[in-house]
Amino acid sequence: MKGVKLLWIGFVFFLATGLMVSSHLNGVYAGSIVGTKHDLSIRSWGAGSGSNQICIFCHTPHNARTDLPEVPLWNHGTTTTNFNLYTSPTLDATVGQPNGASKACLSCHDGTVGLDVFGEKASSPHTIGAGRFNLGTDLSNDHPISFTYDAALAAKDKGLYAPVGADKVVEGIPLYYGKMECSSCHSVHDNTNQPFLRHTNVGSALCLKCHIK
Ligand code: HEC
Ligand code: HEC
Ligand code: HEC
Ligand code: HEC
Repeated sequence: MKGVKLLWIGFVFFLATGLMVSSHLNGVYAGSIVGTKHDLSIRSWGAGSGSNQICIFCHTPHNARTDLPEVPLWNHGTTTTNFNLYTSPTLDATVGQPNGASKACLSCHDGTVGLDVFGEKASSPHTIGAGRFNLGTDLSNDHPISFTYDAALAAKDKGLYAPVGADKVVEGIPLYYGKMECSSCHSVHDNTNQPFLRHTNVGSALCLKCHIK
């Protein structure tokens, strides 16, 4: 009888430690940039590029760049590409050249600026390379970005939810200065919903946060 009781106590203890270990791992990795594709410190050239830090590739606490004031303490080389923009006969939005948070993404994802060009560094051979991670300088085949998304646009389109404010469509889906940017769909620091999505897209749930379809 005593033996069985001890076994049970042991089993419960085993479960509890298991849960503690996994929730600790969640605390470190889920909702974090650590160990994701945006953690450039773990690249073979990462530390050799001048830093073993993670944030430094994109932000610095001091002497930040001034060419992308919409992104806090921006430290990465900024793209100067003049992009080919999305158009369509049914588009209601007025799409402009990528700005703010989107220009930050494209500073690596258009393939023109080295990944480890940060701080004072002017160039590097480590660009993102050809393939699906490289959006290139032609955005005409990508979801439109860098346009004002407000109640007027929703009323005109008739197939969109009106944003609840200039800073978000709904909770968890941000707008930047009233505009839709890459970061309205993507969370650059958090790969819980791969690939870096603001919300799971199972059943196109992310799309349905904005589109009434
Ligand atoms: C690959 C580039 C990149 C890396 C690396 C990165 N960030 Fe960011 N971060 C951005 C961009 C772009 C924005 C602005 C757009 C947005 O909010 O998504 C931003 C916004 C922020 C903001 C303001 C908005 C918010 O989410 O609170 C904070 C704070 C921040 N980053 C902190 C950090 C810290 C701390 C690290 C390192 C652990 C880090 N970032 C690493 C690109 C990066
Ligand atoms: C400092 C450079 C840098 C910046 C800035 C940057 N990225 Fe990335 N991103 C990368 C690299 C490198 C990869 C991985 C490419 C590879 O593996 O070949 C990547 C991968 C991704 C992926 C694919 C992830 C996957 O698992 O498939 C997404 C999505 C992405 N980035 C979105 C963004 C968005 C959105 C922004 C801006 C908010 C951004 N990135 C800013 C460097 C950057
Ligand atoms: C309307 C939402 C939305 C916007 C805006 C958006 N993305 Fe994405 N992005 C996605 C989704 C969803 C996926 C995953 C596609 C898949 O699984 O096939 C994705 C995938 C990616 C990937 C991985 C490669 C791939 O093709 O799967 C990269 C890199 C990326 N996005 C970068 C960006 C950048 C940079 C911007 C802004 C210029 C941006 N995205 C704007 C929704 C968006
Ligand atoms: C953050 C809100 C938001 C999310 C999330 C979003 N969209 Fe959009 N989408 C818009 C807005 C706003 C427009 C501009 C509509 C217009 O002006 O006609 C648009 C435009 C489009 C267009 C082009 C419409 C046209 O008339 O040319 C398509 C197609 C589209 N989205 C599909 C998607 C898909 C697929 C997803 C999910 C992967 C998605 N969207 C996610 C807000 C969003």
